[in-house]
Amino acid sequence: MHSTMERWSGRVAVVTGASAGIGAAIAHELVKKGLKVVGLARRVEKVEELSSSLKSEKGKMYAVKCDVTKESHVTLAFKWVKENLGGVDILVNNAGVAIDSSLIDGSTEDLKKMLDLNILALSVCTKEALKSMKERGVDDGHIININSVAGHIPPQDYFCMYAATKHAITILTEGLRRELVARDSNIRVTSISPGLVKTDLPPKVVLQVSPYLNPEDIAGSVVYVLDTPPHVQIHELTILPVRQRL
Ligand SMILES: NC(=O)c1ccc[n+]([C@@H]2O[C@H](COP(=O)([O-])OP(=O)(O)OC[C@H]3O[C@@H](n4cnc5c(N)ncnc54)[C@H](OP(=O)(O)O)[C@@H]3O)[C@@H](O)[C@H]2O)c1
Repeated sequence: MHSTMERWSGRVAVVTGASAGIGAAIAHELVKKGLKVVGLARRVEKVEELSSSLKSEKGKMYAVKCDVTKESHVTLAFKWVKENLGGVDILVNNAGVAIDSSLIDGSTEDLKKMLDLNILALSVCTKEALKSMKERGVDDGHIININSVAGHIPPQDYFCMYAATKHAITILTEGLRRELVARDSNIRVTSISPGLVKTDLPPKVVLQVSPYLNPEDIAGSVVYVLDTPPHVQIHELTILPVRQRL
C-alpha cells in the first residue's frame, strides 16, 4: 500500500501515559514520523527525558504534567495544547492500569482506580479532543483507544474489573463511531487491542511464561491505522504475540 503518513507530518497528537511502556513507544514513533506529540503523564520528568532523546528526529515532543483522572488537569492540558500548538488532531487514549483485584474481597479503591482511569479519563480526554477538532473545523482527526484482548474475551484470574473496563472501551469505541456518523463527521475512531506486551503493567511472572509483544509492535500498529487512506477506518485491531495462550 502506498503510504499516506506524510499527511500527518506537522500535525498534533496527544498521547496519554507517554512516560513509559506502550505510550512512550507510540510517542517516539509519531515524533519519528514528523508529528508534534504532546505526552501526558504524572511522571512528567520521564516524558521530558524522552523528549530530549528525540531532538534529532523529524517531529517534536512536548511534555505536559497531567493526571488524566483529574478533569481539571485534563482541561488545563488541552488548554496548553490550544495556546501553544493550535489544537489536537489525533488523540491516543493509552493511559491504563491493571490491578488483580477480586470482586469478592478486593478493595473498592482498586476497582475505582481502574474505572476512573481506563473508562472515565479516556472519555473526558476524548471529549476535549473532539471539542478542539470542532473548534478548528478539523474533519480528518483520529481517536485511538488502546484497548486490550481482555476487552473481547472472558476475564482471567482476578483481572475481572480490568477486563470489564476494557470491554467498556470496546463499546465506547463503537458508540463514539455511531455518534460521529450521526453528525456527518469524517473523524475516525479505532480500538487497538494488544495481547501481552512487555511493560511494567503485566505481572512479571506472566512475562516469564508467555510469549509477548514489545511496545514498539503496538506503536507500529498506531502508525498503520493512521496511515490508511482517509476513507478507511480500522475499527478494531487485535494483535497477539504468536503462540500466546488466552
Ligand atoms: N502491557 C500489556 O500487556 C498490555 C496489554 C493490553 C493492553 N494494554 C494497555 O496498554 C496501555 C498502556 O499500558 P502499558 O503496558 O504501557 O502500561 P505501563 O507501562 O504501566 O504504563 C502506563 C502509563 O499510563 C500512565 N498513567 C497511569 N496513570 C495515569 C494517570 N492517572 N494520568 C496520566 N497517566 C497515567 C503512566 O504514567 P505515569 O505513571 O507517569 O502517570 C504510564 O505512562 C493500557 O491502557 C493497558 O491497559 C497493555
